[in-house]
Amino acid sequence: MKVHGKAMRSIWAEPNGSVGIIDQTRLPHAFVTLRLTTLEEAAHAIRSMQVRGAPLIGATAAYGVCLALRVDASDGALERACALLQATRPTAINLKWALDGMRRALHHLSPSEREKAAWAHAAALCDEDVAINHAIGRNGLALIQEAWERKGRKGRVNVLTHCNAGWLATVDWGTALAPLYLAQNEGLPVHVWVDETRPRNQGASLTAWELGQHGVPHTLIADNVGGHLMQHGEVDLCIVGTDRTTARGDVANKIGTYLKALAAKDNGVPFYVALPSPTLDWTLEDGVRDIPIEQRDGRELTDVSGRLASGEVVTVRVTPEGSAVANYGFDVTPARLVTALITERGVCPASQEGLLSLFPERRRLA
Ligand code: MRU
Repeated sequence: MKVHGKAMRSIWAEPNGSVGIIDQTRLPHAFVTLRLTTLEEAAHAIRSMQVRGAPLIGATAAYGVCLALRVDASDGALERACALLQATRPTAINLKWALDGMRRALHHLSPSEREKAAWAHAAALCDEDVAINHAIGRNGLALIQEAWERKGRKGRVNVLTHCNAGWLATVDWGTALAPLYLAQNEGLPVHVWVDETRPRNQGASLTAWELGQHGVPHTLIADNVGGHLMQHGEVDLCIVGTDRTTARGDVANKIGTYLKALAAKDNGVPFYVALPSPTLDWTLEDGVRDIPIEQRDGRELTDVSGRLASGEVVTVRVTPEGSAVANYGFDVTPARLVTALITERGVCPASQEGLLSLFPERRRLA
């Protein structure tokens, strides 16, 4: 996508053997790029959420392996790098997907061949992510076009999204936001309700910034507003991303997604999940029971950061001292609340049969 008119991705390999990222903790107040030069820096970038979003976490982990192999390309170093990166965040399955892919591509090679192959594999993984997201965009665009037809081509198509599942969360295009970017390019009158997404405000800080850069009309809302808007016919469809979706279509995504899905069901609003295939965890069925939910530092909840009129960015405490804090990062939306999954291969019901109809090669393994 373009930033200040310049086309770029959210992660890239530099010619000097380092890896470029956008420091997402600085947005929207400052657009700052960073160079990762070591495995430890890559792991820190994921853990501290300088990079975040399931597909981008996977891509960063792949490049983290490359950085590790620059120093030591032995079997032991490969395994240690994968273990360190795997431990950074628990919910997004893309991390494991990317590391398993790197291991598969590298383990049979001699240490002298490994580093070059690692960079090639990481780059291919990034290109694959971009192609997948663009295909999701095309498949989701058809749903937005249908909504526009249902409205008799009058007014605008109002789409509600939660968290940030845009290009910043992937290598490019995004998942939930890809259909919106394509709709905007096609001249469809879309408007996005952007949930602020407490506690880290990925909606307010990142989705609003992204949509603004691309000129997509949007309105920021507090997390609890969606139900009210749905009751008043102000939401035509919801599209969210996912960090892990099980074989039967249960969806883990940013905390609060489940409540939006409940409100959508109660109000007859279609609730779509943009699902790249690397985010599918075919080994799990019951997402509520089995998907590990990240619990994060309570300071994300007790403290709020913002920019003063002077330009200085400050963090202030907004809660009383001494109250216990629980900071759950994700929740699981059961498949029964999901209207359909938008994948790179097409749109399918959120069910095992639905997924297998698009990924028949999995039938043998199911
Ligand atoms: O905690 P984050 O910011 O990594 O959470 C991101 C999300 O929940 C996204 O919706 C999800 O990763 C899908 S990104 C295409």
